[in-house]
Amino acid sequence: MSIRGTAAHLAADDLPPLVQKAVAAAEAAGFAHSCRPEQGRLLHTLAQGAVRWIGETGTGCGVGLAWLVSGAPPGVRLVSVERDEERAAVAAALFAGLPQVEVVRADWTVLHRHGGPYDLLVLDGGGQGKQGDEPADPERLLALGGTVVIDDFTPAAGWPPLHEGRPDEARLHWLEHPALDATELRLAPDFATVVGRRR
Ligand SMILES: C[S@@+](CC[C@H](N)C(=O)[O-])C[C@H]1O[C@@H](n2cnc3c(N)ncnc32)[C@H](O)[C@@H]1O
Repeated sequence: MSIRGTAAHLAADDLPPLVQKAVAAAEAAGFAHSCRPEQGRLLHTLAQGAVRWIGETGTGCGVGLAWLVSGAPPGVRLVSVERDEERAAVAAALFAGLPQVEVVRADWTVLHRHGGPYDLLVLDGGGQGKQGDEPADPERLLALGGTVVIDDFTPAAGWPPLHEGRPDEARLHWLEHPALDATELRLAPDFATVVGRRR
């Protein structure tokens, strides 16, 4: 989880207007765990390649979703699922004037019911396979050639990647997934993301 994500955005320059609004909403709601700006810029870039659908698990107060919306071409529809009622309400209010965006208050597992197959799937709250969480199935949710993004890893220093001194099974799940060509991207000295493309 990006502990400094909301605060890091407050110090960042050149944020898209919608991202600025989302950061203000997260700040007002006391939500510190928005994505980092480095991650947001990656999402903005990847969203530009979407054709029909973008999905996200874990909306928070909508900062990552605002990056996605700001990057997505016209005609792309976006669905984000958040299980926390207050955060989902904050995000729903933020995107209320944008008919291409749906914020769903539910467990992430309903994502397939609201759209897809997804050209871009961002797993930021549920479906990451971390800490015993059931990982999302890219063959069920992603379009062929679609991209999945899993946030918040410590950059690997060797192979296998370690978490608390043991092989990082969640990261290995994605990096070695038979349906994906996946790699780890270091976005900052202390922070990496795994990106996979469905074969
Ligand atoms: C790291 S924060 C998300 C940050 C957000 N994506 C952003 O970029 O600002 C993780 C969010 O996932 C939500 N979450 C955790 N498990 C979930 C689940 N099983 N289904 C839906 N949301 C979940 C949490 O309530 C939390 O708001």
